Amino acid sequence: MDIIEIIEHKRDKKKLSQKEIEFFIEGYVKGEIKDYQASSLLMAIYLNGMDKDEIAYLTEAMRVSGEVWDLSIIPGIKVDKHSTGGVGDKVSLILGPMIASLGAKLAKMSGRGLGHTGGTIDKLESIPGFRVNLTKEEFIKQVDEIGMAIIGQDKNIDPADKKIYALRDVTGTVSSIPLISSSIMSKKLASGADAILLDVKYGNGAFMKTIEDAKNLATTMVEIGKSLNKDVKAEVTDMNQPLGCAVGNNLEIKEVIDTLKGKGPKDITEICISSGAILLNQAKLFNSIEEARKAIIENVNNGKAFNKFVEFVKHQGGDISYILDPSKFDVAKNIVEVYSTKEGYVHSIDALSIGKSSMHLGGGRETLDDVIDMSAGIVLNKKVGDKVSKNELLATLYTNKDEFWSVKQNVLDSFIIKKEKVKEEHSLTHEIIE
Ligand code: URA
Repeated sequence: MDIIEIIEHKRDKKKLSQKEIEFFIEGYVKGEIKDYQASSLLMAIYLNGMDKDEIAYLTEAMRVSGEVWDLSIIPGIKVDKHSTGGVGDKVSLILGPMIASLGAKLAKMSGRGLGHTGGTIDKLESIPGFRVNLTKEEFIKQVDEIGMAIIGQDKNIDPADKKIYALRDVTGTVSSIPLISSSIMSKKLASGADAILLDVKYGNGAFMKTIEDAKNLATTMVEIGKSLNKDVKAEVTDMNQPLGCAVGNNLEIKEVIDTLKGKGPKDITEICISSGAILLNQAKLFNSIEEARKAIIENVNNGKAFNKFVEFVKHQGGDISYILDPSKFDVAKNIVEVYSTKEGYVHSIDALSIGKSSMHLGGGRETLDDVIDMSAGIVLNKKVGDKVSKNELLATLYTNKDEFWSVKQNVLDSFIIKKEKVKEEHSLTHEIIE
């Protein structure tokens, strides 16, 4: 077997065999297959696609390209949650303590933010002292003892994905459903959870711009799970406006705290409860979604969910005095208010533009080497459907940069305000695929 023949097969729209896919992954990880050959094959996959079997073979070959963590020493069903990323998406940080306070075991690896999207790991690092790199032993011990741990992607897991993702990034081959689904699922499956809930976002702040593409990606990943005998479910959710009101690292941690105390924005509260209920059901801790929802709401109201967050931060070395008194977080030196120039109702808020604006204020990174300003970001005062008067506050910008005028204009332009009322409030979750 040789790589040129494999490239030719995919170029000519032939189905690749399991052996061919394994040959490619093993050879590329070892450095025997060169970047230019891998790029050529990735482009052929991008253009000609892969069928269900090929995607399952690719995922499996990537999954076993490095360490595969075994969490079976922890009693019970271990769950994991993954979002395809968006603006203001702090769901895992809220849902984790909600479900861990009810006996679930959340074992999660997360990523950093890039471009307009934020990353859970950056948000956690805005808590002084928080350790995102636990060893495997520490990770397992913590999940077992307190029911949750969230760490950065371990460097020994899925080296194939690391190499392939970096190559896709510079060869125009990122937005391919076979490549995205195998990338996400191989990492998730290698990190050892028994049940996985995927949140596949659609809309202008998401990877997938349309519901159809998001559904297609979600279905592909659920099918990979089935072919490998894992309990994988996927929600298809709206990312046409930022999730919650806060965008930016320590601003989002403050919103996490508010939401865990029952004082969070409606949309983020609802998605955390509904996703949490699905996970509790996957963990077989509750027989119905309705019972699980009730239990989550009860643990928010009685303080157990918030206390679990404090316990989690403490176990990972974070300074809990910031969680108990969020006014301790640094506040950026420039606080800039954006007022409406019109009266009416908010019809949309451009999530992509808000995400990019937060990045330009210092809250995100354009390249992986950029250093984030943890205090920078945006807090929205109005969301879709809200009534607005002329000169009413729409959003507040936080930045240590002195040139923020164009960002201020962009944030104002992100709000589409019209005279007529917004027709109906649609649910954030479009569909659940299982
Ligand atoms: N996230 C991943 O982990 N991989 C992709 O290919 C896209 C998003």
